[in-house]
Amino acid sequence: MEPSVHSEPAVVVIFGAAGDLTWRKLVPALYDLFLDKWLPDRFAIVGVDRKEMNIDEFRQRLREGVDTFSRRGKSDDETWGAFASHLVAFISAEFDDPEGYATLAEQLSALDKERGSKSIRILHLATPPSLVQMIVQQLGKARLSRDRQRTRIVVEKPFGRDLGSARALNRLLTSVFEEFQIYRIDHYLGKETVQNLLAFRFANALFEPIWNRRYIDHVQITVAEQVGVEHRGGYYDHAGALRDMVQNHLMQILCLIAMEPPVSFDADEIRNKKVDVLRAVRPIPGPQSHRFAVRGQYGAGWLQGQHVSAYRDEPGVAPDSTTETFAALKLFVDNWRWQDVPFYLRTGKRLPSRVSDAFIQFRPVPHQSFPPSTAGEWRSNRLVIRIQPEEGIGLEFQAKQPGPTLRLSPVEMRFCYEDAFKVKPPEAYETLLLDVMRGDATLFMRADQVEAAWSVITPVLEAWEATSPGDFPNYQASTWGPEAAEVLIAQDGRSWVLPPLDDSREEEPQAE
Ligand code: BG6
Repeated sequence: MEPSVHSEPAVVVIFGAAGDLTWRKLVPALYDLFLDKWLPDRFAIVGVDRKEMNIDEFRQRLREGVDTFSRRGKSDDETWGAFASHLVAFISAEFDDPEGYATLAEQLSALDKERGSKSIRILHLATPPSLVQMIVQQLGKARLSRDRQRTRIVVEKPFGRDLGSARALNRLLTSVFEEFQIYRIDHYLGKETVQNLLAFRFANALFEPIWNRRYIDHVQITVAEQVGVEHRGGYYDHAGALRDMVQNHLMQILCLIAMEPPVSFDADEIRNKKVDVLRAVRPIPGPQSHRFAVRGQYGAGWLQGQHVSAYRDEPGVAPDSTTETFAALKLFVDNWRWQDVPFYLRTGKRLPSRVSDAFIQFRPVPHQSFPPSTAGEWRSNRLVIRIQPEEGIGLEFQAKQPGPTLRLSPVEMRFCYEDAFKVKPPEAYETLLLDVMRGDATLFMRADQVEAAWSVITPVLEAWEATSPGDFPNYQASTWGPEAAEVLIAQDGRSWVLPPLDDSREEEPQAE
């Protein structure tokens, strides 16, 4: 596709500019967008951090990040020089220091003057969550949110740690900014295959008529990671898998699979339809949460020939931690389309492979005409939406095996993104940052969505907090989680679909 350069001048202000997320994700994504000519000519990046650094050191640090993490590989001096001319300032200030915000305001006005027109201002909070409240308050005091049409704030997850704190955070954000100025990032929504779910469902007539309880037996969503908590133990030990992954990424995938067709691709229309799904999720009764939710924590084990530590031995983790590194849920969406169709969700760290998939398991044919002897490993139809590492869609159906006798076995029809389009899909952050610049909030979470997702998991969080898991660690690293997760689905006469093994290891840096 031809880049349509966004022509309005823009300035991205990164709070936490010396941090990991800026270095690994934000600036490499901006650099790739720059190379692909998606950024406006009058584009600037301003860094804010409490670290002492001058502009040259700032540029040097970001270049190292770009050279390591850009999908375009190592930069050459000329291209880097062109990009670096847009890195215009680095402000060293404590985040509670009003002076820093005053300097920032001056800097932004000077840029506008220099350009002879007002820029879109993107305030990106790439800081630990504990600083968000302070920065938002200071931005309000410095009146940096005032230009409603041109100022946007980007907030990274986690959005609170339960329903109450998410509501408080939303109240604070909306006391300083209007909801339409707020872009809450869930990077899963920037992944091509996640977005492709909308195209697949609503740009094709084929599947929508059978996308309901009459034809679908159940849905499975798996987001499995090989990595442990690595250097993020301090953050993760206060979060756990339910907060870190289920409340946001898995819930968003669930919404895209279960939502009703939107009337248009207007941001609010899509977000309304997604909120409808979350509101229709059957509440999990706290006292019976064990029938619907399973938690696990990894012990030591062997992964790809290497010994890996138990979660409790990871840096930053309490030696008697009861934080879950694995969660599996069974949910129902109580509406006409999905009544009584189970949605099984699972996610965990230190699982055998890094793979994210959604499986739509269709019901068996209503009448089996073929004699039992013809069916080798007979399976009803299954649609596999592969989110990562391979991005694509597979449809499994029955075929006759070649030969003089009639024997049936399942085969797969595959669509692979890279083969079909001959390009590597952009990184999620590229898509999302460009959308913020364009003012398109479709792929961002609205306050009510965030709160509805917290409502779904809160009874489980409360039940888990009330009872200590006596059996932790209850799964060995490199296995598919605790036995209870198998029981959760087996008690319904079903089983988890085993994803393909993958050897890639990639870590998603976060703001913490
Ligand atoms: C983040 C979580 O949101 O997503 C991490 O905080 C997790 O714990 C990461 O590792 C996974 O992202 P991806 O894109 O690698 O699947």
